Amino acid sequence: MFVLMHVIHLLTVILWIGGLAFVTIIILPMAISTKDSLQKVLTFQRVEHRFASLARIFNVITGASGFVMLYQTGWHRLLFTRGAVPLTFMTMVWVFWFVMLWGLEPLVIKKMLEKMIKGEEKMDIDAVFIKLNRMHWFMVAISLAAAAAGALTAHGSLLF
Ligand code: HEM
Repeated sequence: MFVLMHVIHLLTVILWIGGLAFVTIIILPMAISTKDSLQKVLTFQRVEHRFASLARIFNVITGASGFVMLYQTGWHRLLFTRGAVPLTFMTMVWVFWFVMLWGLEPLVIKKMLEKMIKGEEKMDIDAVFIKLNRMHWFMVAISLAAAAAGALTAHGSLLF
């Protein structure tokens, strides 16, 4: 059971964070370099919309498999202790993602992109994309850090 959870955890993380990196490294620069504002927003919105739904599923599977492993090992008792910094960090990044994907993305980002497309509000679209770009790089960085923390947890450095 533990090995199965571990494999599911790892494969889901690959799909999820790999997809995020693809959007950040390939799709966003493509959208940013598009001159026409409507095309710029549409290019990004189509990809983001599809990926966000998948990311929500990946987030739940990663969390569920992670928490099962946590209780199987009894490591839940170590959370928030000095000895389990990588484990706690990985869990906190997951919580951040949970809030982003289930709260902020559908309530704020999706609506903002729709308003941009309809032209309902005057917005500096280039400035918004600079912010989106920075936010995506930040999310890639903390997600890779969480993956590194996972490897430390799995391969013997649970206790610092
Ligand atoms: C952003 C979210 C997360 C990412 C990117 C992530 C990533 C990883 C990675 C890459 C590994 C190492 C696998 C290996 O080296 O074979 C791992 C292991 C692990 N993860 Fe996560 N994880 C996340 C969320 C969580 C959550 C929410 C929990 C539970 C609270 C969790 C619990 C674990 C445990 C217990 C291990 C160690 C398994 C072992 O010792 O074999 N993870 N994680």
